[in-house]
Amino acid sequence: MSRPKHFFLVAVSICIFACATAGDRGGQPLVTAIAKDAATSLYTIPAKSGRPLVLDLSGPIVWSTCDDDGASHDTLECNDMDCMRAHRFHPPNCPHNGNGMPDAQNDHRCKCTAHPHNPVSGDTASGDMVRVTLSANATDGKNPLHEVSFTAAASCAPDSLLAGLPPGAVGVAGLARSGLAFPAQVARTQGVANSFALCLGNRERAGVAIFGGGPLFAANGRSITDMLGGDTPLRKHGESPGYYVTASRGVFVDGARVPLEDSYGPLAIGFSTTTPYALVRRDVYRPLIDAFDQAMERDGAITAGARIPSPAGSPFELCYNSSRLSLTRFGYFVPTVGFGLEGGASWAVQGINSMALVIGRRMACFGFVEMKEGDKAGYGGGAAPAVVLGGLQMEENLVVFDEEKRTMAFTGQINGRGLSCSNFNFTMPA
Ligand SMILES: *[C@@H]1O[C@H](CO)[C@@H](O)[C@H](O)[C@H]1NC(C)=O
Ligand SMILES: *[C@@H]1O[C@H](CO)[C@@H](O)[C@H](O)[C@H]1NC(C)=O
Ligand SMILES: *[C@@H]1O[C@H](CO)[C@@H](O)[C@H](O)[C@H]1NC(C)=O
Repeated sequence: MSRPKHFFLVAVSICIFACATAGDRGGQPLVTAIAKDAATSLYTIPAKSGRPLVLDLSGPIVWSTCDDDGASHDTLECNDMDCMRAHRFHPPNCPHNGNGMPDAQNDHRCKCTAHPHNPVSGDTASGDMVRVTLSANATDGKNPLHEVSFTAAASCAPDSLLAGLPPGAVGVAGLARSGLAFPAQVARTQGVANSFALCLGNRERAGVAIFGGGPLFAANGRSITDMLGGDTPLRKHGESPGYYVTASRGVFVDGARVPLEDSYGPLAIGFSTTTPYALVRRDVYRPLIDAFDQAMERDGAITAGARIPSPAGSPFELCYNSSRLSLTRFGYFVPTVGFGLEGGASWAVQGINSMALVIGRRMACFGFVEMKEGDKAGYGGGAAPAVVLGGLQMEENLVVFDEEKRTMAFTGQINGRGLSCSNFNFTMPA
């Protein structure tokens, strides 16, 4: 892309971002810190009375364990708007039954049930739909200003549904394209746009999320939202409420197009905060791995013998002796994987977002793994997307999901520009 055009796109996107999100309904966006759990690689926000909820980009609802046995909470009625919203998406492995329909045996009152889904274990349960109090901080994009509590519709879930989530987590904050997802409920209660920005921290450093639009500044006063590139349309993929874009211009390794069979139609790229690495469909996986491997050798970035066997039981195929790779501000110096998206933007994956470090060994492995039959990322049924980018690929990059414009925009990784997702100033002004 030529520079003038690039600047034009940046300017347009800033304007669109600012116009669509800067409290055009009078409200203030909410900010929250994002923690990463080392053991599970899951991201959480402290939105339930300070207790963590796991972020799930594919989750259509908010759910958590209810502190009682069902006797004392007020279940939503079936004709409540939020009950109808809860039934728009049907989770996987869940029989179609009793979607809160009146039960003749059970006198006149019809109570609303939903189907909370655990994106890690793949389990789905049934739970009463209730109103809960969630909290975050209002923000001007520079600091948290004051704490805000708001009432949201959420599903109760049994304790057993917490299996696989980080210790202390009490549920899941779904972020998907649904009226009951966390961003939509913030938008309705706060009078802000249904748009949110995620900046996931690399490794265990905290990141930041802003619900209701930008701007977002680093503690040194630099605007991170000003670095957003051109946007790309969000596309539907099957029945999934998650976020998908189309790599209409193909997949690249170091600028060279990876030859792919085109029998699968448009290349759908999904995003997941509950899978640590990128999952790649088989027809795309082999050509991508081969192209990366060849580019590694061609680059001469590595000396002979850098490639080492991947650890037994690991999902990785390409692993390297990390003491033979050179380290840059963009992570290990390895070929860049690029996705040429609809609308002209390119999602570039440099070493910091492509190489997974194997703890306890001096080893870095290519973090694109082959999608397996029944992978949870296939949520929604139908054909799997070509690629699901995971947490590693999204870290240290400000990604804006705008449900009002149905677009996604991103800065690309910001470490090379001297910034990080852990730079937000979480101190409240006195
Ligand atoms: C609001 O910000 C303060 C100051 O950073 C922090 O201690 C508190 O946990 C935040 N509240 C929420 C709900 O994130
Ligand atoms: C990795 O490279 C270093 C330095 O060249 C070497 O000392 C070490 O033995 C290598 N490790 C493996 C597992 O090959
Ligand atoms: C963070 O914000 C507080 C409150 O405005 C301010 O006093 C402090 O200097 C800021 N810290 C940095 C590193 O800019």
